[in-house]
Amino acid sequence: MADWQKSDWRNKPRVQMPDYLDDAELKAVEAKLASYPPLVFAGEARRLKAQLGAASRGEAFLLQGGDCAESFEQFSADGIRDTFKVMLQMAMVLTYGAKVPVVKVGRMAGQFAKPRSAPTESVDGVELPSYRGDIINELAFTSDARIPNPNKMLQAYTQAAATLNLLRAFSTGGYADVHQVHSWTLGFTEGEKATKYRDMANRISDTLDFMKAAGVTSERLHSLQTVDFYTSHESLLLEYEEALTRLDSTSGKWLAGSGHMIWIGDRTRQPDGAHVEFARGVQNPIGLKCGPTTTADDLKVLMEKLNPENEAGRLTLIARFGAGSVGDHLPRLIKAVQEEGANVLWTCDPMHGNTIKSATGYKTRPFDSVLREVREFFGVHKAEGTIPGGVHFEMTGQDVTECTGGVRAVTEEDLSARYHTACDPRLNASQSLELAFLVAEELSDRDQAKAAAAV
Ligand code: PEP
Ligand code: CO
Repeated sequence: MADWQKSDWRNKPRVQMPDYLDDAELKAVEAKLASYPPLVFAGEARRLKAQLGAASRGEAFLLQGGDCAESFEQFSADGIRDTFKVMLQMAMVLTYGAKVPVVKVGRMAGQFAKPRSAPTESVDGVELPSYRGDIINELAFTSDARIPNPNKMLQAYTQAAATLNLLRAFSTGGYADVHQVHSWTLGFTEGEKATKYRDMANRISDTLDFMKAAGVTSERLHSLQTVDFYTSHESLLLEYEEALTRLDSTSGKWLAGSGHMIWIGDRTRQPDGAHVEFARGVQNPIGLKCGPTTTADDLKVLMEKLNPENEAGRLTLIARFGAGSVGDHLPRLIKAVQEEGANVLWTCDPMHGNTIKSATGYKTRPFDSVLREVREFFGVHKAEGTIPGGVHFEMTGQDVTECTGGVRAVTEEDLSARYHTACDPRLNASQSLELAFLVAEELSDRDQAKAAAAV
């Protein structure tokens, strides 16, 4: 973009960003980061963009998922492996339902900075600045811990690099476990739903057996041997983003080198604000959260700013309205998109509109609300004749107790047992897979509707 510089966001109003106390310290960190290698490469971002373009036409389906906030303290190879593994399992189930390739994008290797609903937080009459993610300050409730420290950007970069290194190794190493489909449902307790999921798992397993019998072994089935796995995060801490932004010599365009896909949050999508200004100038695929307060007019301006060339796969609209509210908002935004003739990929984030405080004091999300929002999202697209092209979850491969419900029901009393999230409650491995089975069902409907329309 000829009229754009990576520092232009500094002239725009910014929200949700820290005020660092020591400018010299901040500048030194930015200079250091700017001298480090980028984490991702332009060719990868372009390939992802093409795949998201396919998803926008219903020829692929996006699965985006991972932590609400990555944590320095909980960083481990096992944690990365387990989330990667569950995402591959979910992708296998979704592929079966959608009959199209599933594009896998982790909220990983850079998902550190968090927007907050209030600038301060009070506990027992003590008020302190809010925790804003490990890249900015610390979760501990002391005034020292809450001071924003620019050096944390360097630790975030290092952790992101190590995470990506492991993800790249897993992605090329093959993943034999996709053949163990039946075992994934072992934890599902008896009941109508559990039986249904088990039936689907058996059908997937039969298909894999058939392919094997027909001579299509995993060694030959390239797509089971290597997977494309991309990274994404909210582009919130713009000093970090700018420092990792590089000019791509092949295309002459700028690339946010911090991750393959970046998104703009529901609190930072002001059309004239700093976050939109930054995102508009980089060539990566961009996500834009759309919430109940997103107006049709703002959306039109944002689509024009963020995707002036109307490129397929450039812009993903991530709907996050809350169960019971999708019908109030999605149709008017779909209309705005249609009026502009804009190419967008619609995906559903059923997490951020469904956070409640449980009777036991924990922030949680009822699995039924998550499920309901996904169903409403598919229902509206069916009614409008548009394409539900993906899902966006906060999830982990660990057996945490953060969201209530699911076939292996987590109760409000269970929440305290393994509540580990640094920010919002995540689906655990079992709940994530269960959701994948549900989405697969919705997708087979989409597939049938498509087939019917083609006849
Ligand atoms: C998030 O995805 O972690 C988030 C904060 O979402 P939103 O901006 O939609 O609230
Ligand atoms: Co979140």
